[in-house]
Amino acid sequence: MNRFDGRTALVTGAGSGIGFEMARQLLAEGGRVYAGDLVPDGCPPGAVALSMDVTDEQSIAAGVRQVIEESGRIDILCSNAGTGSTTDPVSCTAEEWDRVFAVNARGVFLCAKYVLPHMLAQGHGAIVNTASVAGLVGLKDRTSYCASKGAVVAFTKQVAMQYAGTGVRCNCICPGTVDSPWVGRLLDQAEDPVAARAHLVARQPMGRLGTSEEIAQAALYLASDAAAFITGTELVIDGGLVAG
Ligand SMILES: NC(=O)c1ccc[n+]([C@@H]2O[C@H](COP(=O)([O-])OP(=O)(O)OC[C@H]3O[C@@H](n4cnc5c(N)ncnc54)[C@H](O)[C@@H]3O)[C@@H](O)[C@H]2O)c1
Repeated sequence: MNRFDGRTALVTGAGSGIGFEMARQLLAEGGRVYAGDLVPDGCPPGAVALSMDVTDEQSIAAGVRQVIEESGRIDILCSNAGTGSTTDPVSCTAEEWDRVFAVNARGVFLCAKYVLPHMLAQGHGAIVNTASVAGLVGLKDRTSYCASKGAVVAFTKQVAMQYAGTGVRCNCICPGTVDSPWVGRLLDQAEDPVAARAHLVARQPMGRLGTSEEIAQAALYLASDAAAFITGTELVIDGGLVAG
């Protein structure tokens, strides 16, 4: 018996990194997985790849419609698609703020908006939003990113309270620094990528970055029945980064 036998999941941002791992592990544990991404070619084999842009309401509506038409249900939503920014409050433009919020905050809201009616009708469902430690503490040069991830944490709690007792739970994960393609791209852009990586590792209490596999495992716990009494929480997975 697998944890996700008979369960249908939608994972956004499943074409790379953490979302890819969420989708891969859900599949490995018996789930039927719809993998949404701007670039769906990278989604794990075995998943139904959906071309989805979480900034586009019609695209989300169409994706959820397809899940329901084909599977008749949706048990798990991993709202994981995200984007970054590296500006301070003065250099961050209104456009940059809006671009980041459109994916990280508005996208998470819209995915929940379209999935929740089905979960409520079923009387069963688990939403796991990908926030970040950046939603809990202030990080230098991450103005719109921190604010958007803080919005994800607050939205998660609001949804949890709205529907506590209906069988629908909503939680979020707050990864620290994870060795995903995203961080790889950031390091590649650094003047000295080796020194930049060493700096990231040096600030880790455990002396290493996290892996996408480790983050996905935590998300799957929150999505599983083992977390039946957990709603409205933020699970920090950061190797101790923000504990000190
Ligand atoms: N990597 C880290 O250190 C880290 C830390 C904390 C939180 N996170 C969060 O984890 C999530 C996944 O990050 P990752 O490191 O796996 O990044 P990644 O770049 O490897 O993967 C992100 C995926 O999201 C997709 N995506 C981006 N915009 C989209 C949109 N508008 N619609 C649909 N898909 C879109 C991309 O195509 C990509 O496949 C993000 O929400 C990120 O903020 C990452």
